[in-house]
Amino acid sequence: MDEHRESVRGIAQRGIEAYLNDQARQDLLRFITCGSVDDGKSTLIGRLLYEAKCLFEDQVNALHSDSIRFGTQAGEIDFALLVDGLSAEREQGITIDVAYRFFKTDKRSFIVADTPGHEQYTRNMATGASTADAAVLLIDARQGVLPQTRRHAYIVSLLGVESVIVVINKMDLVDYKQTVFNQICVALEEVWSGLELPSPLVIPVSALRGDGVVTLSSLLPWYDGQTLLSALESAPRKQRTLEHPFRMFVQWVNRPHLDFRGVSGTINSGKVSVGDEISVLPSGQRAKVSELITMDASLSSAQSDQALTIVFDREIDASRGDMICSASAPAEVADHFSAHIVWMSEAQGLCGRSYLFKLGALTVSASLTEIKYSVDVETYKDQPCAALELNDIARIHIKLDQSIPFESYRDCESLGSFILIDKRTFSTLAAGMIQHPLRRATNIYRHDHSIKRQSRQQLNGHRGVVLWFTGLSGSGKSTLADHVERILHAQGVRTYLLDGDNVRHGLNRDLGFTPSDRVENIRRIAEVAKLMVDAGLVVLTAFISPYRDDRAQARNLFANGEFQEIYVSTPLAIAEARDPKGLYKKARAGLIPNFTGIGSPYEPPYAPEFTIDTSEGTPEDSAEFIFETLANVLKLGSEG
Ligand code: ADX
Repeated sequence: MDEHRESVRGIAQRGIEAYLNDQARQDLLRFITCGSVDDGKSTLIGRLLYEAKCLFEDQVNALHSDSIRFGTQAGEIDFALLVDGLSAEREQGITIDVAYRFFKTDKRSFIVADTPGHEQYTRNMATGASTADAAVLLIDARQGVLPQTRRHAYIVSLLGVESVIVVINKMDLVDYKQTVFNQICVALEEVWSGLELPSPLVIPVSALRGDGVVTLSSLLPWYDGQTLLSALESAPRKQRTLEHPFRMFVQWVNRPHLDFRGVSGTINSGKVSVGDEISVLPSGQRAKVSELITMDASLSSAQSDQALTIVFDREIDASRGDMICSASAPAEVADHFSAHIVWMSEAQGLCGRSYLFKLGALTVSASLTEIKYSVDVETYKDQPCAALELNDIARIHIKLDQSIPFESYRDCESLGSFILIDKRTFSTLAAGMIQHPLRRATNIYRHDHSIKRQSRQQLNGHRGVVLWFTGLSGSGKSTLADHVERILHAQGVRTYLLDGDNVRHGLNRDLGFTPSDRVENIRRIAEVAKLMVDAGLVVLTAFISPYRDDRAQARNLFANGEFQEIYVSTPLAIAEARDPKGLYKKARAGLIPNFTGIGSPYEPPYAPEFTIDTSEGTPEDSAEFIFETLANVLKLGSEG
């Protein structure tokens, strides 16, 4: 078992290829399994491994005793325990993200990426298993084709996995009836007619009883096609990226001693040889390869999937996330893309919100600039989409904070697939595939003007900052901001007050109160405030700005100390009792469905610079307190 665990960990770190001889490497089949809860995926994989004799003896013994302990009939084995047992290990952090199960028959070696539920797609793409050669799609014979089946088929087609084996499982529960099998085949034909995929191989099995998995069963006399194992043994491999030019992401820069100039990583595509000229992206520096070193040897050339250290003939400036490419065919560099994504979070995906974008060893900030459409899985037709919901498959435009080297997913899976990560919780939100770069921003350059912010601040006699008031409608933001502005103005400070209701009459009159409109509202205000701060002004903004993420994003636009968050914490009951515009009354009557505090959430800040409850004390006193505390921040020379 330890030996097995070790190899699983090794696979993740170094690539299974490192453990295989040339023949086995060329014949290796990677596959993924897709299924819904309870369709018997764990049982199927367990059965396959057991019957193909791919289990270590102690695993088999444990399986027997566990099966008895968990109440299966004596002598019967619950194969799900095998795979679920591995998941338990994973939860305890013993193994790695994806349980790659490696097994071997006389004919072939296999890696099955085994991960539960949605995680499957995320992890598969993230770890490069989007290079799967084949997909095994499970259907419960009693349920037939479900929306989930259609979704899985579509995702598999997006991933470019052409070889699909549909396993119709639990045939024992439909009395092994051919009619049931045939009906599902007809439904599958209809599904496949909407996809750009060759027809799948369809196999009836009972994973529980073992029929059709490794041997044909007398209980399925009407079926004389392949078993699942023979189908896997003969499945074609996906076109590898060997012909593609050489590319490797730098995972780390190796500097054991000063005169050693090496970078380490796993080759993403193509082949590299000693003497080749390479280019480092995005900087474009060039060098020649002087050595290729692996754990146990020095090589003259190396190829896709090999983990190694590359040494150059001269000093180069490379860091984690840079890409080493063939100098004669370098990768493209861009910061704005069209991509397909699969949204995997309960939290909505919204344009304008900032996420972490991770592609290979590279992580940068990014936001969606447009959701072009989402796919209706019932019809595979495009439909308009304002916000991404759990399980949505969509085409989007995404803008990164910096240019990165990339490939389109079609050209190279591992350099064209990315994941989006929540900046606060670090959970994975989506998996995506780059279609092509968008050129829109290519011809836009920043200008450097002679009059700088410092000169404008000198003229004003104070620093430019933003005072960001946030809180419920009726909490007193505008009133308080108005008082603070009056005090500042009286002191000769150049100010401007941006107010929700006013801005929504002009600049933001196209925006309503849906979550995506609110995100865009705050994004624009933050950008306007940034310009005004650059103009040297003290900007006061009074917007509900209900979402923590968007306020954090606004804060990120400013330097330390420049963004002062003032949480107007007046409780809902008091804001509602004030109801200056009669809106709470309307909201309670159901006339404003998404009113903040009633039908739509308000997320209070965790660490605002100020917290003011306007139900305690007068606005004048609170404003005075804010002014006094801020006096130092406004002073010239207080810039951090
Ligand atoms: S925000 O949520 O996008 O920050 P903003 O501060 O611009 O909102 O606008 C809030 C003002 O719009 C409220 O004070 C209220 O007068 C009005 N309003 C109209 N509909 C709503 C709604 N559904 N939720 C909150 N405020 C609303």
